[in-house]
Amino acid sequence: MLHISQSPTDPDFVQNPYAFYDRARALGPVVYWEDYKLPCVFGFAASNAILRDRRFGREVPEDKRKPIAPHTAPFYAVEAHSMLELEPPRHSRLRSLVLRGFTSRRIAGLRPEIETLTHQLIDAFPTGQFDLLDAFAETIPVVIIARLLGVPESMKDQLLRWSHDMVAMYQAGRTRAMEDAAATASTEFAAFMRSYIEERRTKPADDLITSLIQAEEAGEKLSTDELVTTCILLLNAGHEATVHAIGNGVKTLLEAGGPRDWLSPAKLDATIEETLRYDPPLHMFTRWAYERIDVMGHVFEPGDEVGVMLAAAARDPGPWEDAGVFNPERPQSPHLAFGVGLHFCVGAPLARLEMSASLPLLFERLPGLRLAAPPRYSNKYHFHGLEALIVET
Ligand code: HEM
Repeated sequence: MLHISQSPTDPDFVQNPYAFYDRARALGPVVYWEDYKLPCVFGFAASNAILRDRRFGREVPEDKRKPIAPHTAPFYAVEAHSMLELEPPRHSRLRSLVLRGFTSRRIAGLRPEIETLTHQLIDAFPTGQFDLLDAFAETIPVVIIARLLGVPESMKDQLLRWSHDMVAMYQAGRTRAMEDAAATASTEFAAFMRSYIEERRTKPADDLITSLIQAEEAGEKLSTDELVTTCILLLNAGHEATVHAIGNGVKTLLEAGGPRDWLSPAKLDATIEETLRYDPPLHMFTRWAYERIDVMGHVFEPGDEVGVMLAAAARDPGPWEDAGVFNPERPQSPHLAFGVGLHFCVGAPLARLEMSASLPLLFERLPGLRLAAPPRYSNKYHFHGLEALIVET
């Protein structure tokens, strides 16, 4: 296994990680990323194989669990019940309960609401230059996931603050101040969800919280702690990535000189998938090996960890000719922006719907939309989203 080094907080890298990904991929199927002290896979075949292989998983093996620093305990107390950090049978139980509420009919039924919200946001755009992330991309996902779950959307700013503070725990260059903020947010968010769930027990409605509460009350299916964590996970995961999928997608389309006919009904889905392949918002997820496993000539021992580089896999010249070029007309090949296998993103249909309902309206109503300043990505690796998207119409 060859080694490579690259600081994940280097400002040039954060602006364009893809050149590094190409260099790393050329070194072999499994490459040791020194700064993370982690073997990583940068190609499509190895990434796809690891994510689909049940001998790898997200749950940390018993003997690899590190002691939790007391000041971070509230954060890990919430995370301990997250389906994203678990494997079957707990993972299957939690995931199937959530999927009951995410039926394709219910998701598809949200389209008119997303379109109405999109129109309202566009109606309220300021004149002159403005930040499209702030005025558009950030609002749609949080309002829609709050409605789907059944949390008052008037809480959206508070939900965004809690969520930003919590997900900062996964960022490169985490500091004590970030850990303290995440712990406070976890305590407050969990306390809010706990009391809100109590209140909602007597007020059932046609929303996800009601169906989760019913599962909890029906017996052993869901504990109150699991219910609280599941709501927090859905609220956080439900908007953090989608905001930047929309932001990166609009940036990509504007840099390509506008969407031409790429957002027409016949080409819309392919265009959305190409934006997700070309510049996805989440670049890395890790897995643990539970057995001795050979991946393209590299042997992982039980207890080894591996970084799966989703955004690097998406620029692999194997599945995609001229992978570094944004081309919605290219032959479609499945990308890994939503992962694959057991932990495949629960919210993928919702995220896709939010993009396909909002982007055509945005460009239809604002045909002159253009960049007013060069967009810059936030230094928050492995997240890959813009600091701001300053546009004018
Ligand atoms: C474009 C937007 C989104 C992207 C790029 C994205 C990406 C991902 C990825 C890559 C994973 C798999 C992680 C792994 O394999 O380790 C994942 C899992 C997950 N996502 Fe998303 N996601 C998005 C939107 C959403 C939305 C809207 C929701 C909720 C409504 C959501 C909820 C979840 C949950 C609950 C999981 C954990 C699934 C499990 O462990 O079985 N995501 N997402």
